[in-house]
Amino acid sequence: MSEHTIIPVHPQSAEYSLLTPSQLQAMTRRAERDPDGFWLDQAERIHWHSNPTRAFCGSFQDDVEINWYHDGTLNASVSCIDSHLGDRADQVALISHRDGTDEAEKLTYRMLHERVCRLANALQHLGVSRGDRVAISLPMVSEAPIAMLACARIGAVHVVLFGGLSAEAIAERLVDSGARVVITANEIARGAKRIPLKHIMDEALKKAGAESAVETVLVLRTTDAPVAMLPERDLDFHDFVDWFEPDCIPEIMNAEDPLFLLYTSGSTGKPKAVVHTTGGYMVWAAYTMGMVYTHRPNDVLWCTADVAWITGHTSVVYGPLANGSTTMMFDGLPSYPQPGRWWELIERHKVTMLFTAPTAIRSLMREGDDLVNRYDLSSLRLLGTAGEPISPDAWMWYHDVVGKGRCPVVDTWWQTETAGIMLGPIPGAQKLKPGSATMPLPGVSMVLTDTKGDVIEGAGEGCLCVTRSWPGQARTLWKDHARFQQTYFSFSPGLYFTGDGARRDADGYYWITGRMDDVINISGHRIGTAEIEEAVGADRRITECAAVGVPHSVKGQALVVFAIARDEQTSITPEDITRQVSLAIGRYAAPDEVFIVPDLPRTRSGKIVRRLLRKIASGELDTLGDLSMLSDADSVDMLINTVWKEEQTLNVA
Ligand code: WTA
Repeated sequence: MSEHTIIPVHPQSAEYSLLTPSQLQAMTRRAERDPDGFWLDQAERIHWHSNPTRAFCGSFQDDVEINWYHDGTLNASVSCIDSHLGDRADQVALISHRDGTDEAEKLTYRMLHERVCRLANALQHLGVSRGDRVAISLPMVSEAPIAMLACARIGAVHVVLFGGLSAEAIAERLVDSGARVVITANEIARGAKRIPLKHIMDEALKKAGAESAVETVLVLRTTDAPVAMLPERDLDFHDFVDWFEPDCIPEIMNAEDPLFLLYTSGSTGKPKAVVHTTGGYMVWAAYTMGMVYTHRPNDVLWCTADVAWITGHTSVVYGPLANGSTTMMFDGLPSYPQPGRWWELIERHKVTMLFTAPTAIRSLMREGDDLVNRYDLSSLRLLGTAGEPISPDAWMWYHDVVGKGRCPVVDTWWQTETAGIMLGPIPGAQKLKPGSATMPLPGVSMVLTDTKGDVIEGAGEGCLCVTRSWPGQARTLWKDHARFQQTYFSFSPGLYFTGDGARRDADGYYWITGRMDDVINISGHRIGTAEIEEAVGADRRITECAAVGVPHSVKGQALVVFAIARDEQTSITPEDITRQVSLAIGRYAAPDEVFIVPDLPRTRSGKIVRRLLRKIASGELDTLGDLSMLSDADSVDMLINTVWKEEQTLNVA
């Protein structure tokens, strides 16, 4: 099977598709010709308090200003919940299935409304008001979306923090965001593994000290594990929240009021929070999920992403609920208590759409086809992926074995900054090519440029850029607009540079080639090599280091760190460095391999040549290229010996 395989429009998808190929073309042309009218029409997908009369206002030039629907007002929790109470109050909005159990909590739209309102009132009682930040660090339980929507209801800005972060990383985020309240749980339990969330939060708050604005910590007990409570600061979630009224008047927000901050990694420095605002984000969530997922009220959409990532925000919470579907969450591992767990859950909850990361598909593929075939997956009608490139082989396995050749696979390309899908197929209206994220959605204006920023026409390969704003675009970086402008708009004035490279074939299909900057993608987790280097370099026993990503057959990429010890007498081991990264960022960012080396390859001006390190770590020793620019070509032999002499194969291969 080659990259040129074309899967014709699925007969099944043609039945439920909202658009024919010619309607899709007409829609794309309309969006080009009359963007304002087009985006005002799309705004009607969600419920507004007062409808906007203008779509975009602003510019990618100079200081970069992005405003959408600025005279519209709304409340995101009303668009997601109240707007459905009239015709589907008793439809299940949220299924939340617990690890290792047969228990699933099912909340109808009416019940979700009650739960969100109680928590919104409780937060208000704690003094949280419009614009205040609330940090949320929870397992994949229904309280996570409830907490997000409760913030939205009172105009507070949620900041969801990944459960894998270390205390130090949480402390930085609490201080930077200025959160006043934290909502967390005693622990995350997955298989035999336990993450003591509350204990880590206590450590984080201790580290943050007086710099943190946190006054209250609401603690949800998800297991029987004991939890230490600080009486003047900590409150038991249910003991406190369940007393409040099940109705709460929503705060009327301006479209451009922030809805949430989300921390993500970039190519330089510490992670920064991307700011998403209310109106544009909600339209974008409803539009992108509606177009690509074509979901209908009775669909059960299971997106396996953690709510702490943008995929969780948009595909678990805001997109499906804005469109009135049922969203499913699973707080567990694909292989626990048995390797067919995911398939069992699809059969049991009659999931119609599964949305996951290529890493998960690659590891499920390894378990073999028999396991999948043991379950009744006939409820599925659409399969999706995002977060990393999917190889044509994994795509075909997903399509043939999981989808039994009946379900279109939608490979969707997006980012924390884009908030929703930018490239992805419209099932029923487009042929699919395994391994390609297809084409931009109508209204998304993408180009490829060379490294100077000159636009490439027709087939070619280059830097993936966007020429016009879209409603879900991040507005800025929290408290650092200059960094926003510098990161995304300095590559070529007037263009948003995504950081990714892509190839466009003669049919106009896009094939993502990967990040062009120093961001790596490990099992769909986005990590900046600069953050890793900063964490390693913080150890005084290290003088210099370099982190690189190398290909990995399951995780997509693996992280390899090279570090120079201060002097030969210094005792530092690879394990010390791994621990250091786990403490500074979190265990999910721990390097797969660490090499303590006497020196690193450098140019004559002293710059570390990471390209060479990548080649050496991935064993591409025949294509090291021209070494004449190095200050000391012998260092390369020394490195190859260190990496390849003792072990014939690296663990990361
Ligand atoms: C990568 C995740 C190939 C890309 C939604 C992007 C992809 C980064 C795809 C954003 C895809 C996302 N094919 N690569 N379909 N989707 N990426 O912010 O490098 O966690 O820049 O958002 O993931 O990661 P983020």
